[in-house]
Amino acid sequence: PSKRTRLIAGNWKMNNDLNEAKDLAQALVAALPEIPEGVEVCICPPTVDLRVVSCKGGVKESPIKLGAQNVYWEASGAYTGETSVAMLKSVPVEYCIIGHSERRDYFKETDEDENKKAKALIAGGIVPIFCCGESLETREAGEHVAFVTAQIKAGLEGVEISSGDQLVIAYEPIWAIGTGKTATADDAQEVCGAIRATLVEIFGQEIADGIRVLYGGSAKPENIAGFLEKEDVDGALVGGASLKADSFAAMVEKA
Ligand code: G3P
Repeated sequence: PSKRTRLIAGNWKMNNDLNEAKDLAQALVAALPEIPEGVEVCICPPTVDLRVVSCKGGVKESPIKLGAQNVYWEASGAYTGETSVAMLKSVPVEYCIIGHSERRDYFKETDEDENKKAKALIAGGIVPIFCCGESLETREAGEHVAFVTAQIKAGLEGVEISSGDQLVIAYEPIWAIGTGKTATADDAQEVCGAIRATLVEIFGQEIADGIRVLYGGSAKPENIAGFLEKEDVDGALVGGASLKADSFAAMVEKA
């Protein structure tokens, strides 16, 4: 198992209006009055729900942390529909997902976009949860490790951090997202290990040793323990199973 503080992060995606978000946050706070030692928990609601979830009656005064699902890299100005780092910071938000395959696919975001987001977030004191992962076609061609390490190198080019806790990586094989098909724990370790080796090349051993690398893709209470036995898997980025307080809490308890 990994020697780093585990991170169990819930990506709610485009689910839950204000009332539903508040109810789910409340149910989670009730289900997780304490978080096991060596585990950190974060939920990432839709942008419009962040404020209500951050307040009293949400995760305020609870150990559950808050993350966003997206950000724009410019500081302010005429960017209709976008949200800046400073706006997220004022909620307050500690983490922000970037590079998710849904954003790369449906919204045509590029490695260059993710790189700008990573730099803006780090400069503003928010920890990026940088997603990467290969398609089924790439995996079947045996090119998954090369593909993912190239995504990491391109997305993190010129990114500077002074400690490993300023960055999180999430390995999410696209074929395992929302499909009920999970990678095996060995598949996850193979790629997460290669990601760590790439992080060592970029940031040096000491910093790379402190960066959490998560697995995501149909992670649930029944399979999370297997992933967390692996030395380079430091937690999970959970989609579907994070929308039910009892399943998400069960995953935290197994971490
Ligand atoms: O970011 C989390 C994610 O894409 C995985 O989704 O529903 O397969 O857990 P899910």
